[in-house]
Amino acid sequence: MAAPLWLLLALLGCTTALDPALEEAWEGWKILHAKEYLGEAEAARREVWEKNLRRIQQHNLEESQGQHGFRLAMNHYGDLTDEEFNQLVNGFTPAWQEEPVLLFQASEDLKTPAEVDWRAKGYVTPVKNQGHCGSCWAFSATGALEGLVFNRTGKLAALSEQNLIDCSQKLGNNGCRGGYMTRAFQYVHDNGGLNSEQVYPYVATDTSSCRYDPRDRAANCSSIWMVAQGSEVALEQAVATVGPISVAVDASSFSFHFYKSGIFSSMFCSQQVNHGMLAVGYGTSQESGRNVSYWILKNSWSEVWGEQGYIRLLKGTNNHCGVANQASFPMV
Ligand SMILES: *[C@@H]1O[C@H](CO)[C@@H](O)[C@H](O)[C@H]1NC(C)=O
Ligand SMILES: *[C@@H]1O[C@H](CO)[C@@H](O)[C@H](O)[C@H]1NC(C)=O
Ligand SMILES: *[C@@H]1O[C@H](CO)[C@@H](O)[C@H](O)[C@H]1NC(C)=O
Repeated sequence: MAAPLWLLLALLGCTTALDPALEEAWEGWKILHAKEYLGEAEAARREVWEKNLRRIQQHNLEESQGQHGFRLAMNHYGDLTDEEFNQLVNGFTPAWQEEPVLLFQASEDLKTPAEVDWRAKGYVTPVKNQGHCGSCWAFSATGALEGLVFNRTGKLAALSEQNLIDCSQKLGNNGCRGGYMTRAFQYVHDNGGLNSEQVYPYVATDTSSCRYDPRDRAANCSSIWMVAQGSEVALEQAVATVGPISVAVDASSFSFHFYKSGIFSSMFCSQQVNHGMLAVGYGTSQESGRNVSYWILKNSWSEVWGEQGYIRLLKGTNNHCGVANQASFPMV
């Protein structure tokens, strides 16, 4: 009789030798990111980490030979397999629109600036960290609302993702297991407000009940807009004229997980979006004699990831990674 599959897998897992030369790097990584493991979990996690490290090194070697336009680096998610990473942090699934939304379409005679960066105008709060919770949708939504509040009041205040996680389930949001930016805006609309991060801090779990405090109304939303689906031209106009815009992208590839710097593009990027982010601008840079345009997207994986928490994603080339497929923003 054949051995059951789990036994086979376990045996294979045990035979993989860990690289002793990486001992110091592993210990350093654990200390840096405050990682602790119980018993056998340590060897298994280290094996995953070593595999990720080798893939990162291989990519960067190829980058130095001109095969890629961006570099990778180890980060605090380095002990996760691709599947675990996606299950843990990519919490966005596009759905049929149920909430009433207005449509933002490109207008032909609108001239947009060549470069936009809302960070320089004071619209963007410091990069946050969603931790081990699929709450990207909430971070994307607070980012757009923070920009809107700044525009209206001249004050930049961090808004509460936990408020959205704990209180918007009945709209179809699923806490740490995913949600929708438009339904987050709908919650703020229906609720008549959203608390600040300070009053309602982030705890990266979805087991507590709603603690919204109506005395702290740090944001409002009176209408919700979707950007014409798939149109990078409309998205550019929205970013240029409105402020930071919530977007979703396909973030499921290894190179996205461990992105460090440069203009990201990948043949593995699809149009199936699964991760909520915030478009805070766009620009163009000279890359080996060519002009390459990019979106500037704020992530919620801490400043360790990417360019101080941001990614520059290839722009204007077939809606790369589906960046214009689910773009939305709130208005007052
Ligand atoms: C808010 O946006 C409007 C137009 O969208 C703009 O004219 C105004 O200067 C903005 N206010 C601030 C504080 O940036
Ligand atoms: C939200 O709306 C209320 C009522 O119109 C107003 O008093 C409050 O200042 C608004 N808050 C923000 C942050 O815009
Ligand atoms: C790149 O863009 C700059 C500024 O828009 C322009 O002057 C230059 O001709 C462009 N270069 C190429 C190679 O297209």
